[in-house]
Amino acid sequence: MSGADVPPGTGAEPHGFPLDELLRIARMAADGAATLITDRRPEHLGVTQKSTETDHVTEMDTAAERLIREVLAQHRPADAVLGEEFGGEISPDGVTWIVDPIDGTTNYLYDHPGYAVSVAAWNGAIPLVGVVADPTHRRTYHARLGGGAWCSDPQDPAGPVRRLSLGKPRPLPQMLIATGFGYEPARRAVQGRVVAELLPQVRDIRRMGAAALDMCSVAAGRVDAYYEAGLSVWDLAAGRLIASEAGATVEAIEGGEVRPGSVLVCHPERVGELRALLHRCGVSPIDV
Ligand code: IPD
Ligand code: CA
Repeated sequence: MSGADVPPGTGAEPHGFPLDELLRIARMAADGAATLITDRRPEHLGVTQKSTETDHVTEMDTAAERLIREVLAQHRPADAVLGEEFGGEISPDGVTWIVDPIDGTTNYLYDHPGYAVSVAAWNGAIPLVGVVADPTHRRTYHARLGGGAWCSDPQDPAGPVRRLSLGKPRPLPQMLIATGFGYEPARRAVQGRVVAELLPQVRDIRRMGAAALDMCSVAAGRVDAYYEAGLSVWDLAAGRLIASEAGATVEAIEGGEVRPGSVLVCHPERVGELRALLHRCGVSPIDV
């Protein structure tokens, strides 16, 4: 996939950044890495353990981040880069690229559908553009601040590029809610207790395994809402913009500005009810 099918900008460039150009570069990087991890997937993945016995990094995570960094260095050499595998910092001014080379590493490890490459450009704490490339389904989600959320999918009978927009919200008991769990066993025990309370009060729960895709799934109407505590900034850097540009409310679970430790993505007309329900189920933020 190329950046050629990005819908044209409005001409307005909030914050003075060339958003169309940043989006084009983000797509080049994300789609390139998505092709790499799919086409070059080795038969035996070189796997290294990270924070816990089940938190892994594969040789393809590092190869994908390297490729993304090369694209960024070529086109935006002066920008800061923060990536899951090679680190970095968010610059208070200018552009910072925030990269998750494979979100859903466990799925990737098992060759289970539902992993993605996530590339975002921020100015300070403001997301400017976000791209989430889902190679299993050949979809690339993308958004530019103020420009709406889009999904490029060459196999979509409705057309290769579709604007994403939230439909009419379902009542709370009919909502399909996505969530995710951290890697640390004690944290998972707490998150599991919240899900046990929530499960009988909504349609169902989905734990798909890639936070970036969970947020895109809200934007595309494949789930009704998503919440998670204890993410890292690269997990949500692109997905949060795609969801908000599709019309979702993206806030902290307890309200206020979203942050990695506390993420709630929901239709604006249901966010208050869902927040109250999650609170009754005992959810709490996890800031590390
Ligand atoms: C993980 C996934 C998962 C979420 C975890 C994340 P990784 O990212 O997004 O869905 O529940 O909190 O750490 O490790 O696959 O890049
Ligand atoms: Ca991730």
